[in-house]
Amino acid sequence: MKLGCCYYPEHWPEEWWADDARRMAEMGLELVRIGEFAWSRIEPEPGTYDWGWLDRAIKTLHAAGLKVILGTPTATPPKWLVDRMPDMVAIDEKGAPRGFGSRRHYCFSHEGYREECRRITAVLATRYGAHPALHMWQTDNEYGCHDTVLSFSAAAASAFRGWCAARYGTPAALNTAWGNVFWSMEYRSFAEIDPPHLTVTEANPAHWLDYRRFASDQVASFNREQVDILRRLSPGVPITHNFMGFFTEFDHHAVGRDIDVATWDSYPLGFLEQFWFSTEEKRAYLRQGHPDIAAFHHDLYRGCSGGRWGVMEQQPGPVNWARFNPAPLPGMVALWTLEAAAHGAEFTSYFRWRQAPFAQEQMHAGLLRPDSSEAEAASEVRAAAAVLAEIGPQTCAKAEAALVFSYEAAWAIGIQPQGASFRYLELAFEWYSALRAKGLDVDIVAPDADLSAYRMVLVPSLPIVPEGFAQTLAALTCPVLLGPRSGSKTASFAIPDGLAPGDLRDLTGVTVTRVESLRDGVAEAADGFAVTRWREDVASDLPPDLADAAGRAVVSYKNGVRYCAIWPDRALLALLVERMAGEAGVELRDLPAGIRMRRTQTHVFTFNYAAESVFVPHLGAVLPPASWHLDPR
Ligand code: GAL
Repeated sequence: MKLGCCYYPEHWPEEWWADDARRMAEMGLELVRIGEFAWSRIEPEPGTYDWGWLDRAIKTLHAAGLKVILGTPTATPPKWLVDRMPDMVAIDEKGAPRGFGSRRHYCFSHEGYREECRRITAVLATRYGAHPALHMWQTDNEYGCHDTVLSFSAAAASAFRGWCAARYGTPAALNTAWGNVFWSMEYRSFAEIDPPHLTVTEANPAHWLDYRRFASDQVASFNREQVDILRRLSPGVPITHNFMGFFTEFDHHAVGRDIDVATWDSYPLGFLEQFWFSTEEKRAYLRQGHPDIAAFHHDLYRGCSGGRWGVMEQQPGPVNWARFNPAPLPGMVALWTLEAAAHGAEFTSYFRWRQAPFAQEQMHAGLLRPDSSEAEAASEVRAAAAVLAEIGPQTCAKAEAALVFSYEAAWAIGIQPQGASFRYLELAFEWYSALRAKGLDVDIVAPDADLSAYRMVLVPSLPIVPEGFAQTLAALTCPVLLGPRSGSKTASFAIPDGLAPGDLRDLTGVTVTRVESLRDGVAEAADGFAVTRWREDVASDLPPDLADAAGRAVVSYKNGVRYCAIWPDRALLALLVERMAGEAGVELRDLPAGIRMRRTQTHVFTFNYAAESVFVPHLGAVLPPASWHLDPR
């Protein structure tokens, strides 16, 4: 695995560049991502390009033996461009424009802005497409960051009408699919349809689901326009996009299919602070991040673009954007780096080289402080580089378990949660964590992935079952676990004929007759686990595999396929993983809290994410906090 950093030559005096490049190479870095926010310097006046500085920056980096990942600058359209077409900005759900003065102030549907993006991408690709320093292209930066997937602009409304016409053919077909007879919501023409916002109470969930699908398609087609240009003008150079953590607003599998390398931006401490983790977990993993945060995304993004993946931005110290921003434990930056290697990353690049003394992110750590002295992470980068040089390139071992992940599932559940604590992403994360806590390697895959080589398949929830998926599961010979709400909606967001789980009824042998959600803090004790958050009543001819205290089925079993009718707590998940592993002949390890493992084809990695030293039975040794152990296989 190579190491790199994110660098902004335009932020620093040119006299510093050569020394920066020399120090990067000396630290063990090989890649430098540049350019993704530099539009106002590349094209200071409309149509007037200033290539001099970028030519010299790339030359300076290359002269030090570094290669560049060059970003298209389309996440930061300059002021003159916004002034020329003020309607290019996105409009938020409340109808307010998302104006100039930060970044991502554009609407994916604005044809004029798309034209400008094609133009700037083409001139960049023409100038640098065959440059010997070019390692990879990055399109834009973090699609969707700052809540920018959905826009309610006139451009978006008009594009949505066309999208609906293409999908449904006639307004009557759309009215039927959405159930618009309810509350007299019927349309006489596609031109009458607006985005589903500014309604008095909730808009039709079918309307919302299609709006989300449409918005996701807009992101994918926006990206594809840049990809097509880069492929034509810079043939053979791989293309990436840097995705985010815990983010499901567009279909990453769809965007991933169009690029060569899926990368993501890893901020374990910020994510721990910002997401659903309990106060105890936030305390226990304050300076390390929950042991599965980085790994979950490594395994997710590896499955997004056919196996090639990397970390484009790795947190090197405190970030600036979470509510609280602690410093990592000494050793954590090196540990996060090696965890990426253990999952087969082709590179990890730190954000950022030097902390900026000005503007929005001046409180965000870098590998250097603003005065150019080395920050704490620098020595850890050197340590990680030394380990990586010793172990050589790492390729993942075939995972035992597949976890099926669906962006559409996240939208469907988010649109109509029915219980405030039913969060798809959290459910998927908990299932993943249950597997990893038992020492298993996991691939997180799309619903259309080939599942035949896995020894266990888990589907945390899949409300809308894609065509052919039930047959795919039926053909498997390994244990399968399906979670609550699977098969509970049709593609147009209705309850399926014959009730949930719809197309999965034959496979599972159950029919869901009622669902209920439970408020936070309610835990109805059963044998070794508790029912929290969500419960389904199921009718079945088969005896339950597991029941609650009142004898109601919690888990049903038919021919190797289990259906879990509640939000499973950690105890139930552990029990189910044990049962499935037992049936599949897969060996488990009860890893102590904070300890995690990952196998590559040549090594077994063990990591300690706990804040204290932990005795690790399979090593017969104590691992200090923020440390790792490596065994050849
Ligand atoms: C990412 C973004 C970077 C920077 C970083 C700070 O979301 O891609 O440009 O803002 O966060 O942590």
